[in-house]
Amino acid sequence: MWNALKTNHKMASDRHITELFSDADRGAKYSVETDGLFFDFSKTNIDAQTRANLIALAQDAGVEARRTAMFAGEKINETEDRAVLHTALRNLDGPAIVVDGEDVMPGVKDGLAKMAAFCDAVRSGAFAGAGGKITDVVNIGIGGSDLGPAMVVPALAPFHDGPKCHFISNVDGADLADKLAPLNPKTTLVLVASKTFTTMETMMNAKSAFDWMAKEVAEPAAQFAAISTAMEETAQFGIPAERVFGFEDWVGGRYSMWGPIGLSIMLAVGPENFTDFLRGAQAMDRHFQDAPLNENMPALLALVGIWHHQICGYGTRAVLPYENRLLRLPAYLQQLEMESNGKSVSLDGKALDQTVGPIVWGEPGTNGQHAFYQLIHQGRQVVPCEFIVGAEGHEPELDHHHKALLSNCLAQSEALLLGRSYEVAHERMAAKGLTGDALQANAMQRVFAGNRPSTTLMYHKLTPFVLGQIVALYEHRVFVEGVVLGINSYDQWGVELGKELAQKLAPAMEDGADLGDLHVATAPLVKRAHALRGA
Ligand code: F6P
Repeated sequence: MWNALKTNHKMASDRHITELFSDADRGAKYSVETDGLFFDFSKTNIDAQTRANLIALAQDAGVEARRTAMFAGEKINETEDRAVLHTALRNLDGPAIVVDGEDVMPGVKDGLAKMAAFCDAVRSGAFAGAGGKITDVVNIGIGGSDLGPAMVVPALAPFHDGPKCHFISNVDGADLADKLAPLNPKTTLVLVASKTFTTMETMMNAKSAFDWMAKEVAEPAAQFAAISTAMEETAQFGIPAERVFGFEDWVGGRYSMWGPIGLSIMLAVGPENFTDFLRGAQAMDRHFQDAPLNENMPALLALVGIWHHQICGYGTRAVLPYENRLLRLPAYLQQLEMESNGKSVSLDGKALDQTVGPIVWGEPGTNGQHAFYQLIHQGRQVVPCEFIVGAEGHEPELDHHHKALLSNCLAQSEALLLGRSYEVAHERMAAKGLTGDALQANAMQRVFAGNRPSTTLMYHKLTPFVLGQIVALYEHRVFVEGVVLGINSYDQWGVELGKELAQKLAPAMEDGADLGDLHVATAPLVKRAHALRGA
């Protein structure tokens, strides 16, 4: 099927996407809707044959069987011998899911109930700090123990009625210092979030936050909670079991905010809104499981991505939320997509013959328009754009802002599609009175190639339910891409080497350290750092 798709690409290369709109129904045919979430991929150079071949590619790769295996709790994370069951965390009224002979759902439900009880106590003031009701929550974690909640908490700002949440992730002391500075330790609750409870950044930040609190609070551990799969380590840290929120190793770090890692979200918006968030994800899970591939939103989003990256050779894709509260979505998706699918070896350990995960990047619109859209419109490389937009905002009194936002979003996808020809640019410049070489040069500067692909994801309003749908959509996209490409999307061996070397280098950072053993490529920089520090 790969070859057939390459042939499709050759044919598409001579075709402008606008030609496909000679079919007046293209907008309807190349879009899908589920539970109010609408995905339009009509502005891509995918025609009926290409779409059929992409679907066949997914079928040949065994996406459907693998999907069944994932939802059933089979150990599809083969390199780590684990099930991949983040979907169980939102399987609110779904069937039993058995792993190693045991139904995991009672444990999931108990975990959610424990989170809800704790959140109710914190939000009501029944659980208080040394200075009374908790006003601020600090989540200390990194990667999957940070990015999900750090993305969702601002996204759901209109639903906040709990303590303010802050996120510390970087080992750079600046992150800790700046976030803690305005807080009162006596009314602050610290959540130490780490699946392994060994991650260097998190452990160092947790220890420093503990010391910060100990300066003003007699029993700092009483204002700490832990979220982890590693019960021994949380006990060693001194956090009592009633404030340890455990989860199982079948929840991958970057897929984990649906359970205890989402505690900060639940504290901010309350258990009911958190449940709506889970319901949105569950609705997407059901759609993903039930809809035929040709009408299946995650499958189509994935296949559009494969078409653009593997077949057309576009190296990156931009995620462009016209939704300011989704400002951390690109960073979240960078981990979700690039840590999952940034691989070069197949499931059975063979080198792949093509690049796998595209580079994902982006910024909320309209800010991006005044920054990098120049390149998107006139740069030589093609960047497929994924627009995300709600029809309405949460500020009725500022509806005129929202209408401006919407028109900008839709205008950008139209501009990318249509472009502007030399003739039109020439006419415009001539109308301004330019002539001769100046007219030609100015007209050339104002040409837009157009024919640049984009997709649009649209919904009514950004609610917890909708956000749950969107995140689950992207999770399943990663899954489909991973299966089609024959890789394991659920391990991340590529993060290990740097961690090991940082550990090895740590002693050389000490003042007066012996630098004899350092690699020749690194030694000069270590020496310079020492000199600059005056050590
Ligand atoms: O280094 C990468 C990573 O392992 C991610 O996969 C993970 O989300 C992050 O570190 C944090 O890990 P932990 O939750 O165990 O602290």
